[in-house]
Formats: sequence, structure tokens, C-alpha cells
Amino acid sequence: AQFLLLNGPNLNLLGTREPDVYGRQTLDDIVQALTEQARQAGHHLDAFQSNGEHALIDRIHAARHQGVDCILINPGAYTHTSIALRDALLGVAIPFIEVHLSNTFARESFRHHSYLSDVAAGVIIGLGPQGYGLALQAAMQLTHRN
Ligand code: DQA
Repeated sequence: AQFLLLNGPNLNLLGTREPDVYGRQTLDDIVQALTEQARQAGHHLDAFQSNGEHALIDRIHAARHQGVDCILINPGAYTHTSIALRDALLGVAIPFIEVHLSNTFARESFRHHSYLSDVAAGVIIGLGPQGYGLALQAAMQLTHRN
């Protein structure tokens, strides 16, 4: 299967950004591990990070023509603000799994609401970088069932 990993704003700073909240692994570390995990299982994973809503939406639209079976997305703060990202994911009708490194429910109340969760195939929150690996594992199972 074909997977797309999307990371939103500020996730390019992983490793140095609030390490107490987000850990010390860089986004490169995470992307490398995930790419390898997919490859070993006989799948393909592409990764894209952007600090802009526009670029993330364009990448989601492109996924439709690339035969992406499932999207793994950590939308960063756009989780809590972006109806446009929600509409893009619904628009391409590709199932997606929402991932958050931190437990957003243990943080400020403005992080408790997500514009994506109710239309996600599933949500993984608060387990740090390993959450991406768990999401990929789930995505591989979801696409197998189809
Ligand atoms: C985050 C949680 C968001 O609230 C925050 O804006 C982020 C990262 C996470 O992975 O824990 O940028 O999505």
C-alpha cells in the first residue's frame, strides 16, 4: 500500500522544540524510522512537512492522484483551527489517522478540540514519537481489510 505522512506547522523544530513536551527525536529521525517500517512490511511511505496550511492542502489534493491508501497526519496547531484541512481530507476521501505527540487533553483547553478527530479513522494522542509507528501499524491493517 501507499502511505502519506503529513506534519504541520512547527513540527520541523522537533528535537529542540519544547523537548519536555515533544521529546528529543527530530522529524528526520521519525520520518526515517517510519519509511523503514513501511518498507520492511512491503509498503511505501512518502513524507511531507509544511508550516503552511496552503501547502498541506495542496499535498492532500495531490495524494488523490497518487493512489495514497491512507494518510497519517499530525496537523500541529491546525488541528484546533483548520476547517480547510478537514474539508481537504474529506474532499479527497482518503482515510486518515490523526497523531499527536503530546497528550493534548492534558494541556490548554484550546487544544482539547480537533476539527479532524470525528472524521478520522482513528486518533493516537500522547504517546510521543512511537505514536507515528502505531498509526502506521494500524494503517497497514486498515488497508489490508479493504
Ligand atoms: C501537537 C499538539 C498541538 O496542539 C500543537 O499545536 C502541536 C503539536 C502534538 O503533536 O502534540 O504543534 O499536534
